[in-house]
Amino acid sequence: MLTNDQLGQWDRESFFHPSTHLAQHARGESPTRIVTGGDGVFIQDRDGNRLLDAFAGLYCVNVGYGRKEIAEAIAAQAHELAYYHAYVGHGTEASITLAHMILERAPSNMSKVYFGLGGSDANETNVKLVWYYNNILGRPQKKKIISRWRGYHGSGLVTGSLTGLELFHKKFDLPLSQVLHTEAPCYFRRSDLDMSEADFVEHCVTELEALIAREGADTIAAFIGEPILGTGGIVPPPAGYWERIQKVLKRHDILLIADEVVTGFGRLGTMFGSDHYGMEADIITIAKGLTSAYAPLSGSIISKKVWEVLERGTDENGAIGHGWTYSAHPIGAAAGVANLKLIDDLGLVANARETGANLNAAMHTALADHPKVGEIRGEGMLCAIEFVDDKASRTYFDPSAKVGPALASALLKRGVIGRAMPQGDILGFAPPLCLTPAEADRIVAETRAAVDDVFG
Ligand SMILES: Cc1ncc(COP(=O)(O)O)c(C=O)c1O
Repeated sequence: MLTNDQLGQWDRESFFHPSTHLAQHARGESPTRIVTGGDGVFIQDRDGNRLLDAFAGLYCVNVGYGRKEIAEAIAAQAHELAYYHAYVGHGTEASITLAHMILERAPSNMSKVYFGLGGSDANETNVKLVWYYNNILGRPQKKKIISRWRGYHGSGLVTGSLTGLELFHKKFDLPLSQVLHTEAPCYFRRSDLDMSEADFVEHCVTELEALIAREGADTIAAFIGEPILGTGGIVPPPAGYWERIQKVLKRHDILLIADEVVTGFGRLGTMFGSDHYGMEADIITIAKGLTSAYAPLSGSIISKKVWEVLERGTDENGAIGHGWTYSAHPIGAAAGVANLKLIDDLGLVANARETGANLNAAMHTALADHPKVGEIRGEGMLCAIEFVDDKASRTYFDPSAKVGPALASALLKRGVIGRAMPQGDILGFAPPLCLTPAEADRIVAETRAAVDDVFG
């Protein structure tokens, strides 16, 4: 077996890591963690650490690590048929079954599933389909997409543009001109502290209306949003937000893309976040929880309304000019079928609701009164703590103090993985949906202790 030192050296010399400070890593200033195994909510590394992964990888290992049922389904598929493409009507038992299973679980207005590999390429597909849709409807000027600041939709060219986080734009010449951003539904960050939640929703609606008026509704094709902001800080929308936004979109004939890459398949305690917030999307993006990341697979769930136009388009223009070699990859599909069965068999959607509610409540009890805790928020198996320098005046820390990363690192020393979210000093939690009450208690206790480690 290779030594850790050897692997560390090869890593620094050869491996371009995503979302990493490249120079520091190459200089050996940030460690290489070599992960070797996982079971339930725990991972192990080569240094002998056993860590409670309270972020489920990148909020994707929803059924937890080490599930033999999925590993065996993948192995069986690889033995039988590792690959065949899905072009011109080809499929496998796994891919056809999975499309059927997804539609059984999806909102009733949904019609078909297109399969990709990850959340970014699925949103790329969605934008293309929305453009195609409006071309078929004879509205070639109706093409712009509205996203929200703090939204996360991927890091490709168009999807990095949709993502409303500066780091993903800076020095990449993004966002592209077809993408517009509107107010993030983040009540805690409202500019006027006296504004009520209802007033803030009104403000978000007014901002959206103004953007549409400025650009012209006839130039805007779609609005994309995560039911609950994820990477932008785990922020549930203020009450009534989605209802009001959807009314505006309907009035201007703007499609709604619900990006359920994080929320799809149970994370909010409902099968989809759309069910949770009463969203009637025209397209739903899925990835992460579709296979619990046991194999790469994503999807675009297309509504009947959009599908009818796509069919018309191919009658008029021939086969749709869109597809990836690995669309509906049999191994990903086999993992998806086994994963969705496991979610049902283990009752993980209900557990996300119940244990997630307990995790959020216990986090409140342990930390809400702390002078540096500005807000504790969450929904289902998502929870975040936003830290502030001064609570009464809601003064934030100077970003250069890196308080969020310091908290995540103190927590890691205590054996729990949380995530320092990028837009503020925010500690995020998105554990596997199989989290037990005892594991939830441990996350809360270690978080409280890590807060004391950092603030004294
Ligand atoms: C809501 C959302 N959409 C899209 C993506 C992009 O998915 P991927 O990283 O698989 O491309 C992510 C990733 O975190 C996400 O959270």
